[in-house]
Amino acid sequence: MCGIVGYIGNDDAKEILLTGLEKLEYRGYDSAGVAVRSKDNTDLFKVKGRIATLREAVDSNVTATTGIGHTRWATHGQPNQTNAHPHQSTTGRFTLVHNGVVENFQELKDEYLSDVNFVSETDTEVIVQLMERFEKDTNDTLEAFRRTIELLHGSYALAVLDHDAEDTVYVAKNKSPLLVGLGDNFNVVASDSMAMLQVTDQFVELMDEEVVLVTKDHVKIQKLNGEEVTREPFTAEIDASDIEKGTYPHFMLKEIDEQPFVMRKIIQEYQDENDQIKLDQDVRQAMADCDRVYIIAAGTSYHAGLIGKEFLEKIAQVPTEVHIASEFSYNMPLLSEKPLFVFISQSGETADLRSVLVEVNRLGHPALTMTNVPGSTLSRESNYTLHLHAGPEIAVASTKAYTAQMAVLVILAVDTARAKGLTLDFDPLKELAIVGNAMEALCDQKDQLEKIAQEYLQTTRNCFFIGRGLDYFVGLEGALKLKEISYIQAEGFAGGELKHGTIALIEEGTPVIALATQEHVSSSIRSNVSEVVARGANACIISPEDLYKEGDAFTFSDVHPLLTPLASVVTLQLISYYAALHRDCDVDKPRNLAKSVTVE
Ligand code: G6P
Repeated sequence: MCGIVGYIGNDDAKEILLTGLEKLEYRGYDSAGVAVRSKDNTDLFKVKGRIATLREAVDSNVTATTGIGHTRWATHGQPNQTNAHPHQSTTGRFTLVHNGVVENFQELKDEYLSDVNFVSETDTEVIVQLMERFEKDTNDTLEAFRRTIELLHGSYALAVLDHDAEDTVYVAKNKSPLLVGLGDNFNVVASDSMAMLQVTDQFVELMDEEVVLVTKDHVKIQKLNGEEVTREPFTAEIDASDIEKGTYPHFMLKEIDEQPFVMRKIIQEYQDENDQIKLDQDVRQAMADCDRVYIIAAGTSYHAGLIGKEFLEKIAQVPTEVHIASEFSYNMPLLSEKPLFVFISQSGETADLRSVLVEVNRLGHPALTMTNVPGSTLSRESNYTLHLHAGPEIAVASTKAYTAQMAVLVILAVDTARAKGLTLDFDPLKELAIVGNAMEALCDQKDQLEKIAQEYLQTTRNCFFIGRGLDYFVGLEGALKLKEISYIQAEGFAGGELKHGTIALIEEGTPVIALATQEHVSSSIRSNVSEVVARGANACIISPEDLYKEGDAFTFSDVHPLLTPLASVVTLQLISYYAALHRDCDVDKPRNLAKSVTVE
């Protein structure tokens, strides 16, 4: 989704900004731009499309040491050059980049800016025009900035240049994430620390309702009432080399292959010196104190939540509900007396989850975030955090974060069960090590999975995934993966539900991918497969070795029956990857999608 970068210092701003924008490409965007402030001008360069195109468009002769840049994921107005950021006020004095949505932009236009000629169709342009209007009234840029942000409803992260003022970047945020990075004789602004790891790993987080003035050697944070705020920087713990593709053609393939290592890393991080589970005592207590867990998540993380419910109920006997965040925000169910909210989010920035968390905090209920980014908004604003340790995930389609979420959920479930005194014949750390080995063996069988992708999915219009119990939930994730990156219309169904409607769509050659990993439903799912085959479907059965039957298309090494989702999903990830590859799709940056969805 939209990304912001800013630089103020002594070096060539345009190069630092362009490199920063390249690091944000993974988030998904449709247009991009930079503005650099030199002595005479604030020059704007904007394009529809990729940063590579922006690079070509930027005049290499421009020299400037201050600038801002943006990747845009369109919400208001088409993805085109005019609507791309930065936007400038009518006289060109103020230049701005913005993430988020200004909900009251039309009211603001009508009330304050009816005489202004707007160039773009964006909500954003209102902000920069308001700056100019209020500066004329007050002769004071900071006051104009403050007045402007006080009027905005919705979410925003902003960086503004004033051509007539000393070198300063004006910065503010509400709901959308924004950081200031610190350096020697320079400072930077970024919506994601990854963008600026090239120049610093020291970042200061910004809070809502603050106004921040960034110069090359100073960062001044004020509350809206003018009161000064001091805040210590934190060190971003991301290894810059983790965000390189290396020899891989795509981040997605690299991240699929990293899953065995992620399993080992999780075992290491959640194991104490006696080989027992190591978990924050407060999290343990929160689990013991609650009478019901409410898992809140979106997309792939929601699918991990469905598996998490099985773990928490079957292993720890904790009643658990799983909710899609965007639905929960507007339709909260009746809550139990002592709820514990568990937010599952790879990025920790998803706006739909954040709006639930704000409400949960207002109601005073405890919240635990499971995330891959510990300093993220959801992590900071929750009572507790469990780190997924999957390492940066760059491909839009989530893979290793999903298996990491399930791994941490099973650890949490077993720990809770033990704390309750339940007897278990299940050591999750040992079982996860077996899963890691099975994943590794699976990743070595890519040729076979590529052939399956070609045989079943090369030309198809649609595809169905079926399974029962845990396999049904994995089927949902398999379908999501396939549609995200190959644009094949794919749906996951509970095996028994197919004949209640969807079987009408089965025709000669329709691919049906069936997961048969659960012994107690193995014969019923195989019956469901027979039903679709009788109607012409091209069925592809995936099973673990001990449930293998002749004719199955793919089999993987046995793992604990509760943990089969962690292995079986790898087959679906690879099948989706190869399907997309052979259909010439942009695997890492699928159309219309964003990695981190920071608008509701
Ligand atoms: C976006 C991504 C998905 C992801 C979902 C939730 O839609 O494209 O891959 O599953 O957001 O993201 P989160 O970061 O909260 O897990």
